[in-house]
Amino acid sequence: MIDFHNHVLPNVDDGSKSLKMSLNMLKSAAAQGITDVINTVHYFHPKVKDGEITLNNILEKTGLLQNEIDKHSIPIKIHCGSEIFFRPNLVELKNDPLATFFHGKYMLIEFDLFQIPSTYKQELFNLKMEGITPIIAHPERYQAIHRNINIIPNLLEAGCIIQLDAGSLLGHFGSKVKLIADRIIKNRWCQIIGSDSHNDRRRNFCLNAAIDLINNRIDPKQLVIENPRKVLNGEEILVDVHYEEIKEKQGIIYQIKSKMGLK
Ligand SMILES: [Fe+2]
Repeated sequence: MIDFHNHVLPNVDDGSKSLKMSLNMLKSAAAQGITDVINTVHYFHPKVKDGEITLNNILEKTGLLQNEIDKHSIPIKIHCGSEIFFRPNLVELKNDPLATFFHGKYMLIEFDLFQIPSTYKQELFNLKMEGITPIIAHPERYQAIHRNINIIPNLLEAGCIIQLDAGSLLGHFGSKVKLIADRIIKNRWCQIIGSDSHNDRRRNFCLNAAIDLINNRIDPKQLVIENPRKVLNGEEILVDVHYEEIKEKQGIIYQIKSKMGLK
């Protein structure tokens, strides 16, 4: 498996606090059958200093961590990526390899949990026009999505990709988030699941447990192997969007229309 979203690199953002913690996390990942880990360092996030999140700094730290992983015989390869905190003019990052998985084809974008700015559609459209597919990080955790889940199929129709956090399916962010995550899986609106692991305690790698919960409803291979691999390779992920069935079918209007032969 490939873990697409995590903060395992030590001492760069609000993720792992030490090399020891990173190695503990990665041992847990390997035990779950994860062979590749895409570190997605916070970029533009209010909790990180912008100046420290540079390509050279992250590449150097990733190389050092890979050396330690190899020294400890943990069978995992680390890849570099980032999680961009939404702000205006994201298109200015189009030539930054760290922001676009080194090929300029994808960008992982997160929003403030409590507010999605009204300009988001135009910003995402601008990225698409530059050939960059936005991957929306953990939409199940955003209040705007709780109020209107149809934003998700709209995003898919606009050419975005949806990434769920494994912890959301496991209830780590509360029952409301779990309900929304389950609904996203049920509707096949999710293309990638990532752990979004931050530490070796409550927010560790947890892909296996999440997959155990969903694999009677969906084949998880696409979500944790094939699609993450396509992002790494800069290959297109094809999405077939379906909207939820309208509840009206069970309602009184549907029944009356049905009896009148109008349905
Ligand atoms: Fe994250």
